Amino acid sequence: MKKVVITGIKPTGIAHIGNLFGALKPAIEMANNPEYACYYFIADYHALNYIKNADELKANTKDLVCTLLALGMDKENIVLYKQSDIAEVTELTWLLSGITPKGLLNRAHAYKAKVEEATSAGADPDSLVNMGLFNYPLLMAADILMLNTSLVPVGADQKQHVEMARDIAGYFNKTYKNTFVVPQEIINKDVGTIFGTDGRKMSKSYNNIIPIFAEENKLKKLIMSIKTDSSLPTEPKPLDCAVMNLFKLFATEKEYNAEVKKYKKGLSWAEAKTDLFNLINDYIAPMRQKYNYYKEHYDIAEAMLYKNAQKVKKIAGETLARARKAVGIE
Ligand code: ADP
Ligand code: TRP
Repeated sequence: MKKVVITGIKPTGIAHIGNLFGALKPAIEMANNPEYACYYFIADYHALNYIKNADELKANTKDLVCTLLALGMDKENIVLYKQSDIAEVTELTWLLSGITPKGLLNRAHAYKAKVEEATSAGADPDSLVNMGLFNYPLLMAADILMLNTSLVPVGADQKQHVEMARDIAGYFNKTYKNTFVVPQEIINKDVGTIFGTDGRKMSKSYNNIIPIFAEENKLKKLIMSIKTDSSLPTEPKPLDCAVMNLFKLFATEKEYNAEVKKYKKGLSWAEAKTDLFNLINDYIAPMRQKYNYYKEHYDIAEAMLYKNAQKVKKIAGETLARARKAVGIE
């Protein structure tokens, strides 16, 4: 039996190079392991906590679907689906809520951060919290348990949520009968933090991102705007800088070593950035073409999502039936 691997990606903005190397590429590479059955989904129910505009959510979702398919999630070995196509997940969330102590969710980092923010502003502790935020980990547990998941590749910020899913599976299995597979997180540690154009962590909240599929001209402009030191054009350049940090991600060992030589000898930042642009652009170009294709033929992407949703609904339906039976609802 293959081990089920799942992860969810929120459609909350344009996917960037930090997301690519920190989360998407590792997930796509996991699918090359024949021992894994990979299910990846667009977490649009979760995104409702952040996006309160229907057109924006639709546009983000379309963009993310095309991005993920272009990156390789259109292959046979990955089932890409939309969370909201699997309504079963909301019913399972309710069944799980019956055995989940409130105290467990009180400890969630995202909830605690909002309570702290309100308290330090002298406001009511829950004034910034809606139920979607509070129940976020419960819905995520349902996503995971629904498909009999063993492994959940996520960023370090999501570790606590997967631990909660594990706890919730344990409570349910103990209260009723053994119903759920107990999941384990996989934290990708190798990549570390990828820096944005201003030298801080690349993040959509800092307005410093390089979108994966920025158009060629936009990509060039963004790369040219990366903050650098004020050394002279002929002086050696530090290897520990935002330009090289990005170069290293895309380069082969040979390309990297050749660039290191140029940095040590001395080159202008304009030249270093042009090298970076050419490297990224060559790497992205064929995938960008695919991305544009899916954007223009979105019906093809939607048909794929629909077909995949049917596969997922079959498993979800079986798990839900088992859980309903376990609690005494048939
Ligand atoms: P953002 O900070 O832009 O809002 P998200 O929190 O939506 O990004 O990121 C989703 C996942 O992408 C994270 O869990 C993390 O694994 C990865 N990620 C995001 N930004 C970076 C970064 N700068 N460096 C490495 N990984 C990142
Ligand atoms: N909470 C995750 C994030 O913010 C997205 C997500 C939703 C998820 N459901 C999931 C990740 C289930 C892994 C498994 O990135």
